[in-house]
Amino acid sequence: MKQVTVSAPGKLMFMGEHAVVYGEPCIVTTVGDRLLVTAEIIAGEKLQVEAPQVKDTRFVDEAVKLFYAKKGMKNGVRLSTRSGFSGKYGFGSSSAVTVATLKALSLLFDVPTSDRDLFEMAYQVVLKVQQEGSGFDVAAAIYGGTLWFKRGGELIEPLENSTVRELPLTVGYTGVKSNSAELVKRVAALRERYPAKVDRTMRAIRALVTQTKPHLLRGNWQMVGSFMDQNQEHLRQLHVSSTTLERLINAAKSAGAYGAKLSGAGSGDCMIALVPSERREDIEIAITQAGGEVVRVATHTQGVRQET
Ligand code: PMV
Repeated sequence: MKQVTVSAPGKLMFMGEHAVVYGEPCIVTTVGDRLLVTAEIIAGEKLQVEAPQVKDTRFVDEAVKLFYAKKGMKNGVRLSTRSGFSGKYGFGSSSAVTVATLKALSLLFDVPTSDRDLFEMAYQVVLKVQQEGSGFDVAAAIYGGTLWFKRGGELIEPLENSTVRELPLTVGYTGVKSNSAELVKRVAALRERYPAKVDRTMRAIRALVTQTKPHLLRGNWQMVGSFMDQNQEHLRQLHVSSTTLERLINAAKSAGAYGAKLSGAGSGDCMIALVPSERREDIEIAITQAGGEVVRVATHTQGVRQET
């Protein structure tokens, strides 16, 4: 029986989290760790899913349901997943598995599906399962590299040159799981109470992310680091940082990082630091001594692709 294996990368939010939910741009990069989905046609009309590393198989189930409804499929299919990254870091295993499942089905049944079609379908699945989300993680899993992104895929622009490819990042995991949907709701509640203040913060984040773009493309790390620090200050004001994140961020800064901030929804998961190469080792030690786990990942990696 025909069988295909597809892989999709995880992601790291570089700048612009939360504001992206309100229509502002963000910058996201992909990580080297990939999630794999193997799809195979089986007799009958059953769906079999083996997804031991995926915390929520609804993403796979809903992806199959949507694809079958859209493309008029009936065949039985077996899907199994393998993950190169642990779900604990918040690298986006849900969006990666959704994208990889849809891509695997399109290849298995020879249904040509453009990246844009794939984005629309995967984003619909993610919204159905978790209600909230800008779709930045879905775009990262599909297009790969480093992206300039606006909610719902209104803008998906690859940021591509030799400096962006070599983004000098260090990632520190807090050991605390973050709940993105809940944090998005928390920011929405804060905005209900203080609309003018929160909108001001969102606009300030937009200005920072916009200013960062040309400096990122030029590899002007000192400036980019300073924008990251300012972005972090705004995230503090949205109450999405935490003492653990702050401890790791301060450790990285004191050890010589150009800039450091939380990455993603906040309150846990990972922080990122932009680091001069000669300070990387000291910064990694500082993050570890502050109680963090240094996660070594390549960034700016390829989007969804067929493996076999
Ligand atoms: O926690 P993560 O890595 O899924 O990032 C969430 C980023 C938010 O901007 C808070 C939400 C979103 O979907 O853009």
